[in-house]
Amino acid sequence: NRTEQLPDVFEQARITKGVGFIEDQDDPVTMILGLKDVRKCANNWKIFQSGAVPGRIVVPSEVSIRETRQIPFELDPPEHKHFRDLLNPWFKRPLEQGYINSLQQIIEELVDDVIHHGSTDIVSEFSLKLQSRALTLLLNVPYEESLVWINWGTHVFRSNESELDGEKAAILYDYIDNQIELAMKTPSDSLYSSLLNASIDGKKLSKEQIKGVMILTFAGGRDTVINAVTNTIAYFASQPSSLSRLRKEPEIIPRAVEELIRYFSPLTHMGRVVTQDTDVAQQEVTADSRISLCWASANRDASVFEQPNEVILDRKINPHVAFGFGPHNCLGATHARQIIKTLITTLTNKVDTIEVLSQQDNIEDWGAFQRKVGYEQLNMIFSPCR
Ligand code: HEM
Repeated sequence: NRTEQLPDVFEQARITKGVGFIEDQDDPVTMILGLKDVRKCANNWKIFQSGAVPGRIVVPSEVSIRETRQIPFELDPPEHKHFRDLLNPWFKRPLEQGYINSLQQIIEELVDDVIHHGSTDIVSEFSLKLQSRALTLLLNVPYEESLVWINWGTHVFRSNESELDGEKAAILYDYIDNQIELAMKTPSDSLYSSLLNASIDGKKLSKEQIKGVMILTFAGGRDTVINAVTNTIAYFASQPSSLSRLRKEPEIIPRAVEELIRYFSPLTHMGRVVTQDTDVAQQEVTADSRISLCWASANRDASVFEQPNEVILDRKINPHVAFGFGPHNCLGATHARQIIKTLITTLTNKVDTIEVLSQQDNIEDWGAFQRKVGYEQLNMIFSPCR
């Protein structure tokens, strides 16, 4: 049952050095590669901070193209906790039955479309649509809004030529400014209105703060979900026996969700700014330099995961960090898990086999590390269950 869909490109560096080094706009990054070190640094927010200049903890750095602070992502405790306490209940709504039913409807319709249409590019015609339609549930806005986001295409926040494209980012920022204005004029039950009504320590949130939350909700949940959905389908195309197994043993689907997300690790790494000279993984790092917490590498750490490069659908002990670790763990994880779970259940109910017609891999370029995260394009046929 070998699965070499997404090779671990960090293995050598993790074993020999525990760290990797990458250049980025004269602001280099020391990547932390082992699971224990990643967890230690993620918890130590005083020395490895998120609340630096907006954009600096992102790799590649967005300092030159953005001023808005993304919230709660670019804040440290205790301020960070006030926003998390405010946002947590909203982001748990994916556990409600009505939400689950709507999500199921969205996914069943998309799977039926592929079955009937024949050859389909899963990235643009399935994953992007699923991500956008599901986001209308999370934001609690009308379904039609997803048409706008689908029309942005899969590359809205990055151009084809370069990772950093200020003009592309402006599409999203202008859209969000506009939506906040609309929500001020016409309140509704959306996340925008909820944030406009909210206060922290008796103080209303500023428009800039609301914008910071909304940008993050759009950007954080777009490529990650698209890649998780596409990779899940590609995995079942290459391992038809796994789909049959889950059809017979649906009780292991929750474990399969965790295992696939561990294996895919849709977010490769995220940076922090070092506040004082210290050492990590026996490596000195200096004040005001950057490190990154490499979730993708940590999730293949053989000192923690047995057979780390295999997908073991019912893996029992699975302390993966694909959704991060510590105070900044992923706010959208409940939504993302519900999407993958519903997708797998729907595939087991409706799809017999999945055939790949053509593919173009999406490879991230981190200097010494070239990591496949998903697909630019993936043409497939779904054969229905009889
Ligand atoms: C944080 C991964 C989906 C919103 C994170 C972090 C990771 C991550 C690793 C930690 C970043 C850090 O510590 O610096 C993923 C993966 C996803 C996913 C793998 C899909 C499979 C989503 C979705 C949303 C979202 C759907 C919302 C629509 C956020 C937010 C944070 C975050 C707001 C920051 C939380 C904080 O700073 O307190 N995500 N994410 N994510 N994610 Fe996700």
